[in-house]
Amino acid sequence: MSRTMLIAGNWKMNGTRPEAKAFLEKLRGLKPEARPGRELLICPPATLIGEMAHPLAQLGVSIGGQNCHPGVSGAFTGDISAGMLRDVGSSHVIVGHSERRAMHGETDQLVHAKARAARRHGLTPIICVGETLAEREAGHAETVVREQVRASVPDGIEGEALVLAYEPVWAIGTGRAATLDDISMMHHVIREALAGKSDGAECGLILYGGSVKPSNAADILALDLVGGALVGGASLDAGDFMAIADAA
Ligand code: PGA
Repeated sequence: MSRTMLIAGNWKMNGTRPEAKAFLEKLRGLKPEARPGRELLICPPATLIGEMAHPLAQLGVSIGGQNCHPGVSGAFTGDISAGMLRDVGSSHVIVGHSERRAMHGETDQLVHAKARAARRHGLTPIICVGETLAEREAGHAETVVREQVRASVPDGIEGEALVLAYEPVWAIGTGRAATLDDISMMHHVIREALAGKSDGAECGLILYGGSVKPSNAADILALDLVGGALVGGASLDAGDFMAIADAA
C-alpha cells in the first residue's frame, strides 16, 4: 500500500474565475510543491479545470473533475465525458459523491460505469461511499457501505488506479465529522469488502471525507488505514486546505 497521502479538495458548485485566481495566488505563497509524501488535488467546477490545470501543475498540485458521464461522446446535453476531463488536464475524477447519488438519483450501477469510463481514459476514479444518518441509526451502516463497494467498484481496477472515499452523508457539510473509531472501523470494512470481491482488489488509498478541517485533520489522518482526505468546504480556502495537507 502506498503511503503517499492524497489530500483532495472538492469545490462542488463554487468558484468563479476571479475566485480561482485569488485562490491560486494565495496557494502560491504557501508553496504547496514543498510537501513530500503528499499528493494534493483540487477538483473545481468543470468551467475552471482548463484554466487552473497549468498554474496548479506548476505548483505540483493535480486537478480533477467532480463527475463524468459513462459514455465517450454523443447526445448527452449538459454532460462531460472522462475523455474531456483528461483533455483539459485532469488526473482524477470523483464519482458517486453522495450529493450526486441523492440529488441526481445515481445508482451503484451508474457509479460503476463512470469509474470504468474514468479508467478507460487514464483517470483515477475517487469512488465515494457512505451511509445516511437514517441508515446508521438503524444499524445498517456497515451493510450499506459493503454493498456500495461491491456494486460501485469495477473489477480489474486496483492499486494506485483505485481510490475510495468513505464519506458518511451526515458528516458532509455539517461540521460534525465521524468519530475516529467509526472512521477506522469503516475503513476496515471497506478494505474487507474490496478483498471479498471476485478479483480481490486492493485499493491504493481510502480517503475520509465529511467535515475535515484544520482542527481535526491531524487526528483523522494519523489513523492507520486512512490514506488521505476528501475536503469540501475547507478546500475553498487555500490556507485551510494547506493546513490540512500539513497535518498529514
Ligand atoms: P465537507 O464536504 O468537507 O464540506 O463536509 C466533503 C465532501 O462532500 O466531499
